[in-house]
Amino acid sequence: MKVFKTKSELKQHLLGLKTNDKSVGFVPTMGALHQGHLSLIKHAKKKNDFIVVSIFVNPTQFDNKEDLEKYPNTLDKDISLLKTVSCDVLYAPNGNDVYDNNIVSQNFNFDGLEHQMEGKFRDGHFNGVGTVVKKLLEIVEPDKAYFGEKDFQQLQIIKKLVKKHNLPIKIKGRPIFREEDGLAMSSRNTRLTKGHRESAPFIYKTLKRAKIKFGTKSVDKIPKWVVKEFKKHPLLELEYFTIADEKTLQTATKIEKNQKYRGFIAVFAGEIRLIDNIRF
Ligand code: PAF
Repeated sequence: MKVFKTKSELKQHLLGLKTNDKSVGFVPTMGALHQGHLSLIKHAKKKNDFIVVSIFVNPTQFDNKEDLEKYPNTLDKDISLLKTVSCDVLYAPNGNDVYDNNIVSQNFNFDGLEHQMEGKFRDGHFNGVGTVVKKLLEIVEPDKAYFGEKDFQQLQIIKKLVKKHNLPIKIKGRPIFREEDGLAMSSRNTRLTKGHRESAPFIYKTLKRAKIKFGTKSVDKIPKWVVKEFKKHPLLELEYFTIADEKTLQTATKIEKNQKYRGFIAVFAGEIRLIDNIRF
């Protein structure tokens, strides 16, 4: 595996690969890799001739300074893990390399997708994500880029970004990878206390129960039920639960036959904010 710290060296190397008409798959990450990332990379590897992974903790997408400072940094371990899945190229830059010495967000219009759910609670988050993903896609110029569905809103926003800017890249979403007890894999899980880690599977359990209710109860009653369930839980604090249309991400007020819906949730387990979702 080749490791590059600068985009000029990376681009030089990729030029050599692309002249041979090889397809390039790209998996952008913020490191602290887990089995969810590795399964994404393994899948991308099957579908492309070469795989590029990036590890970059993007400062502009954090609205909370402490969350950024405490974001796990495990680069040496990540490099060993990437070798186990035969990753071809790792781009592990610093902020100045990605942002050309000007670490600020651009402002985007994602046709309202950015104002739903996470957008209401994380100020500027999707401008930060849009800025870095656009930069990374323009640096790597992959044929396909892969993202996990745990950040489903992010995935839809990146699809919109690529469409609006006419980037010739296919964006592929992959299902959430879960721990055996159902907790969605996330780099933040390593920061949970023992008690919070033991409590966290309650999130997915509640989503599954809400999904069962979706068939029988009216759509506005389910969020109220979820709020009540979390009020009873001593260690988890619900930030939001909403049932939304998969395409527009707008909260569903009634159910249309041909639309697809998901339940989306954000929960605080102590200081750690966890998100999850489920297809209804
Ligand atoms: O999902 C993530 O890890 C990040 O938001 C991404 C897409 C790598 C951009 O920093």
